[in-house]
Amino acid sequence: MGLWDRRMIVVTGKGGVGKTTVSAALALACARRGRRTLVASVHPKDRLSPLLEVPRIGPHNTPVLPNLEAVNMTPEAAMAEYGRMVFRFRVVSHVIFENHLVKAFLRAVPGIDAWALLGKATYHAIEADGAGRPRYDTVILDAPATGHALSLLALPRTLAELAPPGPLRRDGQERWDLLADPERTEVLPVTLLEEMPVSETAELVERLRGDLRLPVRRVLINAVPERTFEAEEVERAVTEGLAPPDHPLIRAAAWDLHRRRLEDEQRGRLAALTGLPQVDLPLICQGRLRRACVERIAAALEQGVPA
Ligand SMILES: Nc1ncnc2c1ncn2[C@@H]1O[C@H](COP(=O)(O)OP(=O)(O)O)[C@@H](O)[C@H]1O
Ligand SMILES: [Mg+2]
Repeated sequence: MGLWDRRMIVVTGKGGVGKTTVSAALALACARRGRRTLVASVHPKDRLSPLLEVPRIGPHNTPVLPNLEAVNMTPEAAMAEYGRMVFRFRVVSHVIFENHLVKAFLRAVPGIDAWALLGKATYHAIEADGAGRPRYDTVILDAPATGHALSLLALPRTLAELAPPGPLRRDGQERWDLLADPERTEVLPVTLLEEMPVSETAELVERLRGDLRLPVRRVLINAVPERTFEAEEVERAVTEGLAPPDHPLIRAAAWDLHRRRLEDEQRGRLAALTGLPQVDLPLICQGRLRRACVERIAAALEQGVPA
C-alpha cells in the first residue's frame, strides 16, 4: 500500500510553503487515478477554486471535477453537520445546535471548533454509503500550518482518553484509530529548501513520530527551481572567452549556482534530521497559478511517488 492507496492524507507544513497548492495537485492526481476524492480545506476565503478553475467552493462537499469533490470547511457548518450525524435527525440537531445556549456552551469548550473540522474530514474518510461501500476512496485534508496541525491531529486521542463515555469519546477513538493506521493514513509534510521551513519540518516529523506516532513516510519539497545549466557550462563560457566574468548573465548564473548550493545544504539537513525520502515538486514561474500549473505539480507527484 502506498500514498495512492491511502484513505486519509493530511497535508501540512509551515505557512506559505504551498500546502493548498499541493493539496489541489494531489486531489487532481488521485481523481485522475479513478479514486473518488474529497479535498477539504480550511481557509477564511476559498483558495482552492482558483487553482482548480471551478466555481466557488463553500462549506459543504460539492462535486467539482470528475471523481473530485471539494469543500472549504467552517467550524459552524461542520458543527451543524456533526450534530446531524450524531443525532441523525436534522430537526433534532437543528433544535439542539441552533439553540443559543448550546452554541455558547460549544464555543466555551476548548478545541471544539477544531474538532468539528477534523471530525468532518476524518468522518468522510470512514463514511460508507447505504451498501456499506466507502463514499470516498481518498480524503485530502489541506491542514493548517505545523503547530495548529499538531494540536488538531492530537485532538481525537485526547477525546478518546478524556471525554466522558458517549459519542464524543467513541468518535475520538474511531478517528484516532484511522489517523494512527499506517495503512489508511499518511501525514505529508510540505517544505521549501530554506532554513526555517526545513527546521520546522524536522520538528514536525519528530513530533509526529515521537509523541503522536502518526504515519509519515516522505517529505514533499515544493517549488524546486528547474536546473537550466550546469556549473561547468558557466566556467567554460568564461574560460573560452564567450562571456566576460562580469557579464550580467554570468553574474546571474553565479548567483543561481550559489542558491543551488544553499538548497543542497538544506536538502542534506532535511535528510539528516528526518531520514525520510524527498519528493521534488517544480517551481512554477507564473504570476497566479492556474489549473495547468497545478497539473504540472500533479504530474511531478505521480512521477516522484510511484504506485
Ligand atoms: N510550486 C509552486 N510554484 C510557484 N508558486 C507556488 C508553488 N507552490 C505554491 N506557490 C505559491 O506560493 C504561495 C503560497 O502557496 P499556498 O499553497 O497558498 O501555501 P499554504 O497553503 O502553505 O499557505 C501562493 O502564492 C502560491 O501560488
Ligand atoms: Mg493554504
